[in-house]
Amino acid sequence: MTIKEYVAARKAEFKDVVSKMEKVPCIGIVQLNEDPASNAYVKGKLKDAAELGIKADLMKLPIDTSEKDLLSFIDGLNKDDVHDGFIVQMPLPKQIDEEKVKLAVDPKKDVDGFHPLSSLFPCTPKGIMSYLKYENVPLVGKNAVVIGRSNIVGKPMARMLLAESCNVTVVHSKTSNEDLARYIENADIIVVAIGKPGFLDNRFKYKESAVIVDVGISRDETGLHGDAIPGLPVANQTPVPGGVGLLTRLALYENLLEIVSKK
Ligand code: GUN
Repeated sequence: MTIKEYVAARKAEFKDVVSKMEKVPCIGIVQLNEDPASNAYVKGKLKDAAELGIKADLMKLPIDTSEKDLLSFIDGLNKDDVHDGFIVQMPLPKQIDEEKVKLAVDPKKDVDGFHPLSSLFPCTPKGIMSYLKYENVPLVGKNAVVIGRSNIVGKPMARMLLAESCNVTVVHSKTSNEDLARYIENADIIVVAIGKPGFLDNRFKYKESAVIVDVGISRDETGLHGDAIPGLPVANQTPVPGGVGLLTRLALYENLLEIVSKK
């Protein structure tokens, strides 16, 4: 099943669940910037909410909002009964420390799964894991290589793969080329999330049966590019665009429904 088909099937499931709820769930989206990528993400999130029958409340604050004012705005959202969960769209303007913002969101409302005490996983690894399981990709005892060690993708992805009994290796900018090639050659699952267009290419050898999950999304004048070149000689490779981005969007609502179901 392609990712588009998978997302459509899961959305139909979510829509059905939402239609049977007594109260329509509500997600808050706080946005302080007007950068084109953020506008595109927010537009996608609003479109998904509408499709699923979920209320989305976009709150745009001025770009020069102080950190103190944003934190007190977040405090209000933490305490209100209107929003079941909310996100603060990143990146944030320079005067605001993103880490402080992540910690200010009540873990009980943290649909992004960014808070260290959140019981939810961040949307990208969560979306990827749901997809791998749905597709019955063998995980137990398989060699998974995660390229990149960010707090939002690499590290939680590694933890989730480990929880499924994969043999997990995390490689990063300090890994030697020689080691990288060796890990990739033996990998059954490769998750690449470093934001370097075309980083995985034919200079590496791959298992024919490997699955490549491409989290990268870089834009230039010719369009959007993943961290892997298209058409690598593996069993399955997620496309960019139309791949992991859709899974991330879906997982946001999977997290929201999890929050609502725990109430
Ligand atoms: N900016 C880019 N992706 C995301 C995301 O998943 N959540 C938030 N809050 N900001 C983002």
